Amino acid sequence: MTVHFIGAGPGAPDLITLRGRDLIAACPVCLYAGSLVPQALLAHCPPGARIVNTAALSLDEIIAEMAGAHERGLDVARLHSGDLSVWSAMGEQLRRLRALGIPHDVTPGVPSFAAAAAALGTELTLPGIAQSVVLTRMAGRASAMPDGETLEAFAATGATLAIHLSVHMLAEMQARLAPCYGADCPVAVVFRASWPDQRILRATLGTLDPAIGKDERTALILVGPALAAEGFDDSRLYAADYDRRFRPVGTAPRFPG
Ligand SMILES: C[S@@+](CC[C@H](N)C(=O)[O-])C[C@H]1O[C@@H](n2cnc3c(N)ncnc32)[C@H](O)[C@@H]1O
Repeated sequence: MTVHFIGAGPGAPDLITLRGRDLIAACPVCLYAGSLVPQALLAHCPPGARIVNTAALSLDEIIAEMAGAHERGLDVARLHSGDLSVWSAMGEQLRRLRALGIPHDVTPGVPSFAAAAAALGTELTLPGIAQSVVLTRMAGRASAMPDGETLEAFAATGATLAIHLSVHMLAEMQARLAPCYGADCPVAVVFRASWPDQRILRATLGTLDPAIGKDERTALILVGPALAAEGFDDSRLYAADYDRRFRPVGTAPRFPG
């Protein structure tokens, strides 16, 4: 018996890995985080599966579901939105499973920042402009930010910021980031990336209307010069004169075949 944690992807039901889909189909128990996991994924569950929306359950109740399945020898598919490595609450579940000696594994998913970048048709790391992406959030009602993990500190690097869980705080985000990046720095807000009602708003830190974030919370804020850059260098990867292992160039290549 194993509890399989599965990244359910950002919303579109076909943005799940084949492994994740096959695990759902093989598990007689499915626990899913109902607020963001697409219901259509549940169609992969086998007939008669026990399917539980954990949105209204406490951590103790969720672990009790897993422990009950463990006692009966039933595999569990545990679905969380996007990828499990960020803001999935997987860490606290894994800690309990380790203490109980319940086997588990993890199958990654498509994270929402990647779905948002895809919706924009944008590469977040451009040569000479930005070579780092910071996945972050602003402090929430239940989640303080650790000292040092401030928007200002990340912005000082010039990296592209992918700000989660914060669309209701756009005015504060603008006020804090405009002095760092400049008021003309591009911003994109992608609501419900990959869902049928996906919506994209592009602006600058100076022109963004903070009211756009008041009704819909499922949104990613992307900030940084890479979002609108055209004047960046080509990468060396495909440069005709770049001698590399898979494409030796010149009379004395560095990696002779
Ligand atoms: C609890 S976190 C889950 C993050 C998830 N584990 C991931 O890999 O992206 C929820 C936040 O992720 C972002 N998010 C999740 N799905 C999204 C989507 N389809 N479009 C835009 N943002 C999304 C929003 O910022 C939302 O507030």
